Amino acid sequence: MADSQHITVLLNEAVAALVTDPSGFYVDGTFGRGGHSALVMQQLSADGRLLGIDKDLAAIATAKTRFADDARFAIAHGSFAELAQLVAERDMTGKVAGVLLDLGVSSPQLDEAERGFSFMQDGPLDMRMDNSQGETAAEWLLQIEEEALANIIFKYGEERYSRRIAKAIKNAGLIETTGQLAEIVKTAHPKWEKHKHPATRTFQAIRIAINKELEDIDIFLPQAVEVLKPEGRLVVISFHSLEDRLIKQFIQKESSLAEDTGWGLPQVQQDTRRLKKIARIRASEEEVKANPRSRSAWLRVAEKLA
Ligand SMILES: C[S@@+](CC[C@H](N)C(=O)[O-])C[C@H]1O[C@@H](n2cnc3c(N)ncnc32)[C@H](O)[C@@H]1O
Repeated sequence: MADSQHITVLLNEAVAALVTDPSGFYVDGTFGRGGHSALVMQQLSADGRLLGIDKDLAAIATAKTRFADDARFAIAHGSFAELAQLVAERDMTGKVAGVLLDLGVSSPQLDEAERGFSFMQDGPLDMRMDNSQGETAAEWLLQIEEEALANIIFKYGEERYSRRIAKAIKNAGLIETTGQLAEIVKTAHPKWEKHKHPATRTFQAIRIAINKELEDIDIFLPQAVEVLKPEGRLVVISFHSLEDRLIKQFIQKESSLAEDTGWGLPQVQQDTRRLKKIARIRASEEEVKANPRSRSAWLRVAEKLA
């Protein structure tokens, strides 16, 4: 099947925030189809370097053809949660000029029925970003307990009817396709929201869980600070409040003075700050019109302190 296109969100804003030194070493932790990476490459000098990372083998294949002849570029198949190791292997710990994440799924992942992410197209119930390892959504749903599933649908899907939906899913036994799962959720859901498929929240929750999306962000964030050089940039685009909250709280914590422990004794406050907040940007009206997916995007930028 022909590879569908991915429209890069906040392209100019993210790359402008990321690239401060054309000779620097950069990491694009979510290569996707290379939209951000291509603009980074254009801005690098002959000494600049870019390491792309993606969990998805289709993204890796694109990277290999797109930048095959460019010695400034390298690609790694894996998670951005392995950032520290991937950077250490290249002897660049503490020397990285910028790290970019553009979170979530790419349009090709959603559009290709056989990847099993979408309730819009019927395909095998997979949803793995890295389909070379781990459990498919179908396998995962079969083994998870009803209560644990309900909690995940509630927490990651922010779905009020999580208990009923979890019950219906567990009663169904093996669910082999996205179409079957969408139907089960639709039937169990008592109150459909306008302009939203009733399975939207449940699909999001299962996807976040099986790809360990929030865990990976949690593991990544301290590693990003560790690998950056002084004045190096952390640039993250997120698409829903669960992701954005993690980024926001991390930057907040790393850019604020530690709270007094409050045991009554006068204390010398230690300055443990490692980051400085630089910007918080949303997509322009024009971009939202051209690409509705950008409506929910938040771009946060922080800089490592010297
Ligand atoms: C929104 S797309 C990125 C699009 C890219 N910026 C572009 O313009 O083409 C997100 C990509 O991140 C990848 N991804 C998501 N979580 C990941 C993780 N923890 N580690 C590595 N890649 C991840 C997905 O496989 C997907 O290809």
